[in-house]
Amino acid sequence: MIENPMLAEPYAVRRMQQETYDTFTFELEPKSKGRAFSFAPGQFNMLYVFGVGEVPISISGDPAKSETLVHTTRAVGTVTNAMWKLRNGDILGVRGPFGTGWPVEEAKGKDVVIVTGGLGLPPLRPSLYQLLSRKQEYGKLVLLYGARTPEDIVYGQEVEQWRKRSDLAVDVTVDRATGQWRGNVGVVTTLIPKAPFDPANTIAMVCGPEIMMRFTIAELQRRGIPDKSIYLSMERNMKCGFGFCGHCQFGPFFVCKDGPVFRYDRVKPFFGRGEI
Ligand SMILES: Cc1cc2nc3c(=O)[nH]c(=O)nc-3n(C[C@H](O)[C@H](O)[C@H](O)COP(=O)(O)OP(=O)(O)OC[C@H]3O[C@@H](n4cnc5c(N)ncnc54)[C@H](O)[C@@H]3O)c2cc1C
Ligand code: FES
Repeated sequence: MIENPMLAEPYAVRRMQQETYDTFTFELEPKSKGRAFSFAPGQFNMLYVFGVGEVPISISGDPAKSETLVHTTRAVGTVTNAMWKLRNGDILGVRGPFGTGWPVEEAKGKDVVIVTGGLGLPPLRPSLYQLLSRKQEYGKLVLLYGARTPEDIVYGQEVEQWRKRSDLAVDVTVDRATGQWRGNVGVVTTLIPKAPFDPANTIAMVCGPEIMMRFTIAELQRRGIPDKSIYLSMERNMKCGFGFCGHCQFGPFFVCKDGPVFRYDRVKPFFGRGEI
């Protein structure tokens, strides 16, 4: 329960790591010592760069590690570029966590297929950590990950470690092969037909650009996964983050409060219809 959702808490930058040419991961520690931060996989924070502005960024660390907050951000504009310039010890304002999470509880006893494109992996990494830590409670776990080029792959070393695990099936593809890439080439949907899951008993978690999610949903439906077993994470412009200002309206929903994770059958009439 957040005491005052408008109040940003000061957090210090502890580690900055470049992931790709435009994407970076950083860890934050609370200025008030001993303050733990609990969140559900899929939730996001409003991060405030003092004097510049505030943006929603998903939490991408391990939910079991409540002493630090991890975010992975692509520098696309004013606030995210200012964020990239932060160094160890610099202070950020944090409000959150906000929004709904991935259905890790509901997925118990089922196979789980995670389909991500581009920067869709960071919002899903916490659920992957949680699923792997409770592996015995789930069926098969599958990660399908698509990036534009090999240079756009985030968490490269970790993805390689995941590939070596026997309890997680990982398949990665790139739209365009460059350098030494010898893996799959093609969009992420091409990985779905041969992915090892039982469509009748699977929860799908999908995150990426809207066009990628649209084609992914169609391919999952072709495999026989019902709409009510498909979950996706939406993005909209946000201001307050907790259902107060109306900036993130999506049909009858507010993405910040009713989402960002939605069950597909609930948003189907509005999905892919632009800014409604
Ligand atoms: C729930 C939620 C979770 C999010 N999680 C993450 C995350 O984990 N990591 C992350 O990097 N981003 C995430 N985003 C997107 C992030 O909030 C935006 O990229 C950010 O608000 C851009 O702010 P800015 O001031 O840097 O750019 P602005 O100055 O506002 O925009 C500059 C330019 O970038 C374009 N732009 C704005 N947003 C995006 C976008 N999402 N993708 C591509 N171009 C964009 C604008 O159209 C404009 O041309 C999330 C958004 C939401 C709603
Ligand atoms: S951001 Fe204000 S209602 Fe969603």
